Amino acid sequence: MAEPIYRRVIVKVSGEALMGPDGASIHQPTLTRIAADLVAAQALGVSIAIVAGGGNIVRGVQVSEKGIPRVTADLMGMLATAMNALALETAIEAAGHTARTMSAVTMPEICETYERRRALRHLEKNRMLVLAGGTGNPFFTTDTTAVLRAAELGAQAVLKATDVDGVYSADPKKDKNAVRYDRLTHQEAIERNLKVMDATAFALARENRMPIIVFSIRESQAIEMVLRGRGHATVVSS
Ligand code: GTP
Repeated sequence: MAEPIYRRVIVKVSGEALMGPDGASIHQPTLTRIAADLVAAQALGVSIAIVAGGGNIVRGVQVSEKGIPRVTADLMGMLATAMNALALETAIEAAGHTARTMSAVTMPEICETYERRRALRHLEKNRMLVLAGGTGNPFFTTDTTAVLRAAELGAQAVLKATDVDGVYSADPKKDKNAVRYDRLTHQEAIERNLKVMDATAFALARENRMPIIVFSIRESQAIEMVLRGRGHATVVSS
């Protein structure tokens, strides 16, 4: 098998990725499988920080459409990411690897506060890092967080774990004529208004020449395959 092509990556695990067929916010077998995939990927010698999404519990934009102001809705979403981060930390440790949760929003009774130097120390000590609270600001997505942390922590790529096997011209669940891309530039993703990530995340990635690899977490060993450059994925790069 090919050696991993990255030494350090950020894996964005969306909240929806943790849901199962029963509609529960966190589906335990799915959580356990994702944790096992992450631990197997780290065993290749790749240092991994996970950015937890929160959409399985609260999605800021949708809550704001129902009457709660966007700022408050986004703060609720940030709390949702902390719940998923704790679930991921616990599952990773149950799978046999040390993990540390750090939050961009201070909540010392629950987890450590994100601090770049300390985050780097955890990674250097081969701990898996789980990042909660987004950027700590409303109006920014956890996709933007993933690109930001990748740039700050010296990662070579963002692995965006989703429900689908790459980037499509339209939502493949709604449009059967949607075309799948193997490769795209950040610029093309922005110009074509591809919804897989928000424009802020793509713009930050373009500025930092940060590749984003979009793949389906539903396939087993998906993370490992992407790290070996063999995954069924779309690569968005400069
Ligand atoms: P090193 O200093 O690198 O050895 O890291 P460490 O994480 O093993 O040591 P530390 O003594 O800082 O932390 C021990 C445990 O307490 C770890 O599980 C940390 O995640 C946790 N911890 C550290 N700071 C905080 C905090 O502010 N809040 C909470 N809830 N836990 C914390």
